[in-house]
Amino acid sequence: MHKIVKTESLAPSMFLMEVEAPKIAAKRKPGQFIMLRIDETGERVPFTISDGNTETGTITIVYQVVGKTTAQMAALKPGDSILDVVGPLGKPTHMEKVGTVCCIGGGTGIAIAYPIAKGLREAGNKVLSILGARTKELLFYEDQVRSISNELLVCTDDGSYGQKGLVTEMLKQLIDRGEQLKLVVAIGPVPMMKFVAKMTKEYNIPTIVSLNPIMIDGSGMCGGCRVSVGGATKFVCVDGPEFDAHQVDFELLTKRLASYREEEAKSYDLYKHNCKLGRG
Ligand code: FES
Repeated sequence: MHKIVKTESLAPSMFLMEVEAPKIAAKRKPGQFIMLRIDETGERVPFTISDGNTETGTITIVYQVVGKTTAQMAALKPGDSILDVVGPLGKPTHMEKVGTVCCIGGGTGIAIAYPIAKGLREAGNKVLSILGARTKELLFYEDQVRSISNELLVCTDDGSYGQKGLVTEMLKQLIDRGEQLKLVVAIGPVPMMKFVAKMTKEYNIPTIVSLNPIMIDGSGMCGGCRVSVGGATKFVCVDGPEFDAHQVDFELLTKRLASYREEEAKSYDLYKHNCKLGRG
């Protein structure tokens, strides 16, 4: 059992949870993830580790309530426990001093981009960060990202905060003003990563994305997380979660992400219905 030591609401439907997991806290590296199961009847769900503390032996995950499991998680409080936390899984981000890098976080992807940007800064890079959200209230981690960035650009789709526009427009501003970007790391919704990849390919800037397909066992055995990268089948849980953005088949990823949407919605509806009846 893993005790929950902190929960926090970051934005509408966005929550932070800090959980005791000393071995994972000691080993984890930026880019890696965990799989957790709330209780014996729960499904296994992957979450990227957005922070960790070796002294308290805790790790932090940030999640959005999108279905039954995340809704159950949002109802948990400090002092409650989670049955299994397995990790750290996946390959860590390759950290190297390359010069100027741009880290882009969109939506929930901000929580994943943050530890990577932090690691790249510690590796001696000049880190230019871009955070994007649909609207001001959905933006989070701004201070954390600012504290580890040489410069931070913030944009919202509706212009309610920062510059009005998309992260690709902010990236274009950096390129146009002459920043010699040696690496772009883009993490967020699939369409966002796809359009960033399209732009950086034109400018020949190496680009990494972190993928979030459906995962079942997290061990490379079930094939649930397969994606196509450079024409080859890869398993995100063991070969990723990060890949060369210019090689990823984003169309296939989009289709696979949509394949269980109906079942997920049904399960979430049933959970909400049972909650109303006091059986949740
Ligand atoms: S989650 Fe089963 S192979 Fe990756």
